[in-house]
Amino acid sequence: MIQLRDETAFDVPARESLLDACFGTSRFAKTSQRLREGRLPAQGLSLTAESQGRLVGTVRLWHVCAGADRPALLLGPLAVDPALQGEGLGGRLMRAALARSAALGHAAVLLVGDAPYYARFGFERELAGGLTMPGPFERERFLGLELATGALKGAEGVLRATGALDAAPLFAAEAAVEAGRIAARRQAA
Ligand SMILES: CC(C)(COP(=O)(O)OP(=O)(O)OC[C@H]1O[C@@H](n2cnc3c(N)ncnc32)[C@H](O)[C@@H]1OP(=O)(O)O)[C@@H](O)C(=O)NCCC(=O)NCCS
Repeated sequence: MIQLRDETAFDVPARESLLDACFGTSRFAKTSQRLREGRLPAQGLSLTAESQGRLVGTVRLWHVCAGADRPALLLGPLAVDPALQGEGLGGRLMRAALARSAALGHAAVLLVGDAPYYARFGFERELAGGLTMPGPFERERFLGLELATGALKGAEGVLRATGALDAAPLFAAEAAVEAGRIAARRQAA
C-alpha cells in the first residue's frame, strides 16, 4: 500500500537520492532549478509517496509570477521510484498535487516536462505560449494548466521566483564562513 503525505525534513535525503536516480546531476543545471533554489516550496504542496517506510515518489510546487502580475505555481520535479514506474503512482501524485493546489486557491500551474505525459492532466503548450523561462528552456516542453478559468489568458513575460526565501542555505553559508574564521584564528595562534 502506497501512502501519499506531506513531505517532512526527514524525507530530504531520500528525496534527493530519488531525484538523482531519475534525473542525474544534470538536474541542477535546469532553468527550473534557478526558480527553485534558495526558495521554499509553496505551503502544503510538497508531497511524498511512501511504501513500507520508504520514499518512492515526490512532487513539489513553487510560487512564481508569470509575466508582470500573474501569480502561478511551477510544478516539479515529479519523480517515481524506477522500480514502481508505470503503475499509476505518478498520476496519483499529480492528481493529488493539482487538487490541493486548487483547494488552496491557486489559479494556474506551469512546468517544463514531457507534453505527452502531462497532457493527460490538462497541461497545454498554448497556455504557456506567451511566457518564457529566465534561461534556456525547450519551448515545446513548457506547459500550462488553468485551475481557474482564464488564469493564464494573455499572460506574457518571463517567469520569476516569488516564494519565501529558504533560510537553510544562508545558515549553511554563514556556518561555512564562521568555520573558516575559526580555522584562521587557530592557525594564527
Ligand atoms: C514520469 C513519471 C513521474 C511518471 O510516473 P509513473 O508512475 O511511471 O506514471 P503513471 O504510472 O502514472 O503513468 C504511466 C503512463 O505514463 C506514460 N509515461 C510515463 N512517462 C512518460 C513520459 N516521460 N512521456 C510520455 N508518457 C509517459 C506511460 O507510458 C504510461 O502510459 P499509459 O497510461 O498510456 O500506459 C515517472 O516515470 C518518472 O519518475 N520518470 C523519471 C523522471 C521524469 O522523467 N519525471 C518528469 C517527466 S518530465
